[in-house]
Amino acid sequence: MFPSAVYDNRRKKLRESLHEGLVLFLGNQEVPFNYPANTYSFRQDSNFSYFFGLDHPDLAGVVDLDAGKDWIFGNDVDINDIIWMGKQPSIKDQAMKVGVENSAALSELNAVIAEARAQGKKIHFAPPYRAETIIWLSDLLGIHHLELKKNASADLIRAIVKLRMKKDAAEVAEIEKMVDLAYEMHTTAMKMAKPGIVEQEIAGTIEGIALAKGGPVSFPVILSINGQTLHNHHHDNILVEGRMLVIDAGCENHLHYSSDITRTVPVGGKFNARQRGIYETVLNANLAAIKAVKPGVPFKEIHMLAATEVAKGLTAIGLMKGDPAEAAAKGAHTLFFPHGLGHPLGLDVHDLEGMGEAFVGYDDEVTRSKEFGLAFLRFGRKLQEGFVMTIEPGVYFIPELIDTWKAENKLAEFINYDLVETYKDFGGIRIEDDILVTADGCRVLGKPIPKSVEEVEKIMC
Ligand code: GLY
Repeated sequence: MFPSAVYDNRRKKLRESLHEGLVLFLGNQEVPFNYPANTYSFRQDSNFSYFFGLDHPDLAGVVDLDAGKDWIFGNDVDINDIIWMGKQPSIKDQAMKVGVENSAALSELNAVIAEARAQGKKIHFAPPYRAETIIWLSDLLGIHHLELKKNASADLIRAIVKLRMKKDAAEVAEIEKMVDLAYEMHTTAMKMAKPGIVEQEIAGTIEGIALAKGGPVSFPVILSINGQTLHNHHHDNILVEGRMLVIDAGCENHLHYSSDITRTVPVGGKFNARQRGIYETVLNANLAAIKAVKPGVPFKEIHMLAATEVAKGLTAIGLMKGDPAEAAAKGAHTLFFPHGLGHPLGLDVHDLEGMGEAFVGYDDEVTRSKEFGLAFLRFGRKLQEGFVMTIEPGVYFIPELIDTWKAENKLAEFINYDLVETYKDFGGIRIEDDILVTADGCRVLGKPIPKSVEEVEKIMC
């Protein structure tokens, strides 16, 4: 946990952005796995973590904007709980640790909210995403569960996004520790990527590194020789020479700050000419995008720069043709690079995504495209100092997408379909780093993870 002043200060800043009523933060509850007492690992809600720091189930926080007071609601353990859980600090003591002077039993929350409702006070809440929270919130507020999301407070969402998007030095340090742990995960995976090994063995090993040295993985490990499926969570293939292995994995620590890194390596450790050509295309897009990052530049512009680099590289190989910038502007690269360049990273691996990407990634100046490919860009607006983002271009050969486009002869002036046909067995390549936007550019976070062809081949030999 950070010192209490950190949480106090965050709530103070929240109060400066909102004017009246109550702000209600429901912490997460345990979620049953296969019967009530056998639960998934507990994960606190990120907004609750950010403003109240406490990391166990069945807590609620209230910021009373009118009275200028903060509250934590939760139950002290009794002797029956102590038998199973050991002695626990009182809710009052826990609240004091995060600078909250007022605490009460969870049942008191009902009365506080009922009174606020009776007085017609505004009750701000963020969009809920877990069934348990949706039911709890619906009961407290008397709003049908299907109506909750649209009743979430836009003012609160904006205030949260403004605060959480800009990471301070302590937050960056926590993220960076997790990138350093991702270094271990990824270099271990690289060394294990030999013909004959089953993907599961590598996936399990790197998840074990995360668990042994940090927290859990920050999202289910993506690891496959079928990297053309962007989020491939099936790990049952046997590695064979000639395939590329995509490893997209990160971890989060006890404060829930996360990392998200992707590397793609040739099974067996040596790139063949075809693999090298596509790899260097993606690498150039990754490097060009990182170089272009600075405050004030719209991320959409950097995405399009990466798209142009992809088109340039594929044109040099002969898979695309024509002018690369024009090809990218018309969306021809999306046959190979159909996703967005990256997303914010922080307490959530897709930071703040639950608040709604329209609030997080777009604004009045930069609106979300409806075009295939660009529509998947989660964040398009101008970057600011303190933002932490992923930069993750890729090139994939998705047989079904190739067949669909080819049948329509789509953008044939930019695509050499005959050559593309011969790459249908290639798979995919993605290269992802986590960066901090600085005053005049950006810094790639963490210990550098092998990325150039030479670095990858060296660590795998
Ligand atoms: N790296 C996984 C994701 O961005 O969804």
